[in-house]
Amino acid sequence: MNEAIRNQFPIIRNNDIAYLDAAATAQKPQCVIDALGDFYTSLNANPMRGVYKLSIDATDAYENARKKVAGFINASAPEEIIFTRNATESINLGADILSRGMLGAGDDILVATSEHHSNFLPWKKIAGSIGGSVRFLDCDAQGEYDAQKLKEALLPNTKVFAIAQVSNVFGRLNPIKEFARICHENGTIIFVDGSQSIPHIKIDVRDIDADFFAFSGHKLYGPMGIGVLYGRKELLDSLPPFLEGGEMIEYVSKERVTYAELPHKYEAGTVSGADAYALGTAIDFINQIGYDEIHRCELCLTDYALNGMKKIPHVNIIGSDRADEHHGIITFTVDDVHPHDIASIFADAGVCIRAGHHCAQPLHILLGIPSTARMSIGIYNNMDDIERFLGVLGNIRELMGYEQ
Ligand code: ALA
Repeated sequence: MNEAIRNQFPIIRNNDIAYLDAAATAQKPQCVIDALGDFYTSLNANPMRGVYKLSIDATDAYENARKKVAGFINASAPEEIIFTRNATESINLGADILSRGMLGAGDDILVATSEHHSNFLPWKKIAGSIGGSVRFLDCDAQGEYDAQKLKEALLPNTKVFAIAQVSNVFGRLNPIKEFARICHENGTIIFVDGSQSIPHIKIDVRDIDADFFAFSGHKLYGPMGIGVLYGRKELLDSLPPFLEGGEMIEYVSKERVTYAELPHKYEAGTVSGADAYALGTAIDFINQIGYDEIHRCELCLTDYALNGMKKIPHVNIIGSDRADEHHGIITFTVDDVHPHDIASIFADAGVCIRAGHHCAQPLHILLGIPSTARMSIGIYNNMDDIERFLGVLGNIRELMGYEQ
């Protein structure tokens, strides 16, 4: 990656570390950090509450961020963008309103087995509450889902199919557009977790024809504490509110309540104005770099990492060995070494990676591996980071007392 871009990330610039954990959270460029301060320095008032200039400015900053997000993912209208705290809350929101507004006893929900728990547990919970069922669609060992198997798995009563666009373990891109067509032929809603795709590929929710699309700001170089739920307007319009409280109503008396129009119907209470504003700044930052450049750099680093990893004995890559099927994520194991030991050895060498089941335990059970190690790439990483990673990886077994 271009050093001028790397230098915009203070944590990267000021620390002797190779940060390879973007899939857990991305580092923030200075402009995003400044945007948070700017909001509280110059714009802070409660958005949508006051008629004085400061509150109007705060409202404009918040609503402009919504417009930026809508444009960024090509939603039909800003009203289709609901701000939440994170992707987990977005999915819980979507599952909850579907359970009370559209699903009923006997309905079925299909979940991709590689899902992060946040795109499984909300569906399991609502299936219990409606008296419905949750079933799984398994992938193969490469993380690939078969379209024909999806067709066969969709039953007449399957109301929702929940799947990530990119798995947080495999990094593989699922063909959502094709899966959406198959779902819609069956009258099934497709609910897409885009948390791991949006940092790496251009999203067009209308082109892929997602009914819902959830993501977190913090993986997209934005702040923690802001997430997005995109939903098709006709669906959101027809569904009930999520949380009850301030600013999500039109009229309240002791006896009766009517609810606000979209998007406010789904944004009860004081909103995360500064975080939304800074997410808008993160989007400007990404747009300035452009996804072509992001993809070119990340592919180059991934390819270099994979080629290096393949040369180290006893290293097993989870999923495909092709760089273009990884989208910034490489999950792996080292024979005889526990992933937490792997991560600790990396940590001692100043290399930040994640180990465990990555909140995707059903997938690890399917693969027959209790836990794995994962490195993940962001736009601030460079070849030196990958060299450092490979250098440590090559010594792990010896450090643990094994012969290479
Ligand atoms: N969902 C994030 C990850 O995969 C935290 O690490």
